[in-house]
Amino acid sequence: MSKKGDKEAEEFEPDKGSEAQIAVHWREEGYFFPSAKFIGQANANDPSILERFSEKNYPECFKEYADLLTWDKYWHTTLDTSNAPFWKWFVGGRLNASYNCVDRHLKTDRNKAAIIWVPELEEQDTEVITYQELYCRVNEFAALLKGFCGVETGDVATFHLPMVPDLPVAMLACARLGVIHSQVFGGFSGSACGGRIADSKSKILVTIDGYYRNGELQDHKVKADEAVARALEDGVVVEKVLVFRRNPGEYASKSPMVEGRDFFVDEIMPEYKGKLVDPVSMPAEAPLFIMYSSGTTGKPKGCQHSTGGYLSYVTGTSKYYQDIHPNDTYWCAADIGWITGHSYIVYGPLALGTTTVMYEGIPTYPDAGRMWRIAERLGVTQFHTAPTTIRTLRKVGPNEPAKYNYHFKHMTTVGEPIEPDVWRWYHEVVGKGEAVIVDTWWQTENGGFLGSTLPALNAMKPGSCGPAVIGIFPEILDENGDVVEAGSGHAGNICIRNPWPGIFQTIWGDPDRFVKTYYEKYNKDPKSTDWHDWPYFANDGAMQAKDGYYRILGRVDDVINVSGHRLGTKELESAALMVEEVAEAAAVPVVDELRGHAVEMYIAVKPGVDPNVDVAAKVTKMIESEIGKIARPKNVWIVADMPKTRSGKIMRRVIASISNFTDVGDITTLANPDVVTDIKHYVESEKVAAGELPRDLSSAELQSILNFGSEE
Ligand code: PRX
Repeated sequence: MSKKGDKEAEEFEPDKGSEAQIAVHWREEGYFFPSAKFIGQANANDPSILERFSEKNYPECFKEYADLLTWDKYWHTTLDTSNAPFWKWFVGGRLNASYNCVDRHLKTDRNKAAIIWVPELEEQDTEVITYQELYCRVNEFAALLKGFCGVETGDVATFHLPMVPDLPVAMLACARLGVIHSQVFGGFSGSACGGRIADSKSKILVTIDGYYRNGELQDHKVKADEAVARALEDGVVVEKVLVFRRNPGEYASKSPMVEGRDFFVDEIMPEYKGKLVDPVSMPAEAPLFIMYSSGTTGKPKGCQHSTGGYLSYVTGTSKYYQDIHPNDTYWCAADIGWITGHSYIVYGPLALGTTTVMYEGIPTYPDAGRMWRIAERLGVTQFHTAPTTIRTLRKVGPNEPAKYNYHFKHMTTVGEPIEPDVWRWYHEVVGKGEAVIVDTWWQTENGGFLGSTLPALNAMKPGSCGPAVIGIFPEILDENGDVVEAGSGHAGNICIRNPWPGIFQTIWGDPDRFVKTYYEKYNKDPKSTDWHDWPYFANDGAMQAKDGYYRILGRVDDVINVSGHRLGTKELESAALMVEEVAEAAAVPVVDELRGHAVEMYIAVKPGVDPNVDVAAKVTKMIESEIGKIARPKNVWIVADMPKTRSGKIMRRVIASISNFTDVGDITTLANPDVVTDIKHYVESEKVAAGELPRDLSSAELQSILNFGSEE
């Protein structure tokens, strides 16, 4: 059993600072400690690991991660900084990611479960894929990609797949061939997928006819048609669309198969059954995959991850931070369409030869006990999810976990800040007071964890991710580049001083944007090849307590984090501007009880627009079709004018304050301060009428609004 530490409650002195150094004051939480039982079996329970990964041993310390892999050729240079900040790790080395995740386990673990897939419908059978079966499927799909689609090493293949086993099989098949995969989250719209196909210039799209969501079979193939059409607008021709079928022998979609372009995988597969394809020995720096993420401008960024550095980093952090042992049954309930799923459902766990669980559906289908039934039936040892899911499960079934006989040794939270109260429910009720928790802070760009407690060696503190992970050396900088001291009660921009093997290599096709977004702000000398001159700017606000633990406050750029997923304000606004009546659009975050934040849109219509047109409904529909349902705005407010600076920029922070019933601050410098009063009156009264009452925001929630919007 864990015990609560001293409950010394400490208030940070409210302090006046510049906006970059917002003073943060909240109650310090007490510590929680891992159980002796957990410590006894943990992969990292010897404090010497902290010394091994200390700064004086950097960057050679990461040899320990790379040595968890099987290399075809060992590398000669751990870190090459000659083309800063385009870092190269394990230079000279060659390896294959598919071999490392599959083939090398066959000798000892051929018939052990590699993937256990749980369909959403409880009446459908769970599918157990052994390492041998995974080996066969990966080889066969690789043979098909090569033989039928003619893909070659270095090409890009786009997937638009939901949580079905075909997804990791397709990823590993690409990795086997040295083909770069680009998986687009299954819940994204066809148009969003098409934009990503065009950006990556992919000629292949792998999709499925349908999948289950909340008990209903969704028509997914229809999105492939939209995606192909959207890619064509940018001049990219998708030559082949491979369509898996969710239920064998049936076709779940209304969309016709296009002759010569669309092919059912099950119809072409017989020719490739039993075929083997040699894994291609890839240079460590060869790209393994692209993962798109939102940023400050409209176009999503294709984060390009390497083979050797990425795989080493996710394998090492899976071993020490997820405490994965070969005999565990590890369940990360994220979607493989996000980086968490790539790193901590597929690559990390499979490289370590453990059993990884995949679940197709939503956590509350058919009821609030579903997750715990899965955990009980499969004997899950580690559970990994996001605060938004924890909040939902707490709301709909606070007493459900106690009804099921499962026992987690370890649990993870990821993707957004977790409120201490929600953390405590996770610990006491879901973890039954037994499981250790890691709150892992990181980003699509990072490959793996940046901030987390080492589960057997560091005490947990609700609401803080903990110290930096081993081999990561952060600093919090103010707008002038000066360090904000730990324990000062001030927040600033969290940066990582050093490169690490999991860091993405570049933005696909846009190296200038890569440098500009992540390095320019704090770079000390653009010509320098010394990594010390290139702090990585994470675009998150954070503060460090006296004990060295970090509390992440949220994005400082124009990104809204909805249920742990990043949505760019510019992407939302460009979608809204596609509605012909819309003249101006602004997207802002609003604190949401379950999702962390939700999106609210402010719209100014063009003069002379017919008042009978429901512009708000059109905006919502357009956002859903351009981005996906995940981005659906909570409210769309039609306003006469937007608050603007004298140079004509929309003050998103001011309208974000209105949406959240918080103080709009000093608006005297605006070009049109009067509109603020009008908008405030209109929005607040509508909200109150709809039962959306103001409530006291926690300091973390308040910070997330105050921090928002870098562009003014
Ligand atoms: O603001 C941080 C928040 O999520 C952002 C990264 O989102 P994404 O690239 O989609 O990756 C999510 C999964 C790794 C970060 O910039 N974030 C992520 N984890 C945490 C977090 N905020 C607070 N605590 C976390 N543990």
